[in-house]
Parts: sequence; structure tokens; C-alpha cells
Amino acid sequence: MSTEPTSDWWAGIDTEDAEALLARSLEQFGNRMAIASSFSLEDAVVIDLAMKVRPDVRIFALDTGRLNPETYDCAEKLRWRYNVEMEWYFPEREAVEQLERTKGLFSFRDSIDNRKECCRIRKVDPLNRALKDLDAWVTGLRREQSVTREKLATIERDEGHGGIWKINPIASWTVDQLWDYTRREGLPYNSLYDRGYASIGCAPCTRAIEPGEDLRAGRWWWENPEHKECGLHVNMKQWSPSI
Ligand code: ADX
Ligand code: SF4
Repeated sequence: MSTEPTSDWWAGIDTEDAEALLARSLEQFGNRMAIASSFSLEDAVVIDLAMKVRPDVRIFALDTGRLNPETYDCAEKLRWRYNVEMEWYFPEREAVEQLERTKGLFSFRDSIDNRKECCRIRKVDPLNRALKDLDAWVTGLRREQSVTREKLATIERDEGHGGIWKINPIASWTVDQLWDYTRREGLPYNSLYDRGYASIGCAPCTRAIEPGEDLRAGRWWWENPEHKECGLHVNMKQWSPSI
């Protein structure tokens, strides 16, 4: 189900203001909208901001089967804190079995095609299921994260998912802002950050970064920065006049 792009539902608010944008979108879409969480610092902040507006906000997560234990710990801490059901999605069993039997457990290191195949099975297909009945989804994407995200708008139309709305309320936030908010509110955070991680993904495809390295240098570190998208965030049309 998707909303026709006729209404300017954000009219009158500053679309760069995360709290205002979340409040307005929750008012507009209610439980036909959900937050996508990988249990990064970004996602915990978005969840907290949204919970303050609407304690029954929906949250979904893609369990790729290859996440770090620290990520599951963080997910549970957030679940307890807000007493919320995490809507977990898992990959299709047959597809994973076929992939692992024919190509082994680390095929994603052999080529970009193989990496995208694994991301498709473990992330992109489950995301399609998660978004099937939604009119809008919310992410923790930020412009500072990479060259591929520099021009990120706070409101997008997700053409790859039937034109539903995609909302990136903290697009303009810096890492310092995220930590300030996390500490001020006493939010649980993924303990991988204490081990030098700057981005949260699958265990075999994510490593800690060295001082001075790019924030996403630890993701698929054997690939060029231009390729470092797994397929969750493609085919967007900018909608907001934000940048
Ligand atoms: S990715 O495309 O490279 O994996 P990234 O890790 O930067 O994305 O996360 C950006 C946003 O995508 C997160 O803030 C979250 O909203 C969403 N996201 C990423 N991974 C997941 C996941 N496993 N489950 C749910 N949402 C996710
Ligand atoms: Fe597979 Fe790595 Fe993509 Fe996770 S990040 S789905 S393990 S290729």
C-alpha cells in the first residue's frame, strides 16, 4: 500500500528538525510506518526520539543470521527499555541453504556479485517483506556516513518499494551529536563501539576502524567506497527541499 505523493504532509515544519519530522510523520502514518533498526547508535537515537512522541511506534529489524552477539544484546536492551516488540525478519531458509551449500560460508569475499547475492538473500529480500504493507519507513541514515550519502534528503520516495515514503530524520546529525544525545538520555548502545567500530553490520563484513579512517571504512573493507551499499538504500527519489 502506498500514499500518493499529492499531500505535502510536512508543510510548515523544518524537515531538517528530527523531532518535528518524526512527530509529523507519526501523526501522518501512525502504525503504517516503522523504524528500520540495525541497532547502531543512529537507530537507538531515532527510536528514542520517536518513542517520546508515540510509545507504540513500530520497529523492524533484519536478522541476516550473521549479526554480532553485541548487536543482539543491544536489541534486547532496547526491547526491555521501551517494552516494545521488535519485528524481526529472517531470510528464506531455502535460499540460505542453497547459497551456503553451493558457495560456502564466505562467498561474499570472492566478488562484488557474490557479495550482492548474499546481501540480497539476507537483507534485501527480507526488507521487501518488511515494507510490503507499510506506507513509510524510517532510517538512521546520515549524510556524513559516506560519499554515497552526501546528498541524502530527509524525505524520499522509495521507488524500489512501490513509492512508499522513506524518512531519514537524522540525516544532518554528526557523530558527536549522536554521542551527546546517547549519553544525555542514558540510552543503551551497541558495545561494538567500545571496540572501535563506527558502523554496525554483519559480523564477517564489518570491522573496527583505525583513527582517521572513514566512518564506513570497516564495512566491506575489501571493496571501493562507491560500491559500499548493500541494496537496502537504492532507487530513491528526493522529495524534501532539504538540501
Ligand atoms: S547498509 O545499507 O550499509 O547496511 P547501514 O548499516 O549504514 O546500511 O544502516 C543505515 C540504516 O539502514 C540503518 O540506520 C537502519 O535504518 C537500516 N538498516 C541497516 N541494516 C539494517 C538491519 N539489519 N535491519 C533493519 N534496518 C537496517
Ligand atoms: Fe552477507 Fe555480508 Fe551482506 Fe551480511 S553484509 S548479507 S554477511 S554479504
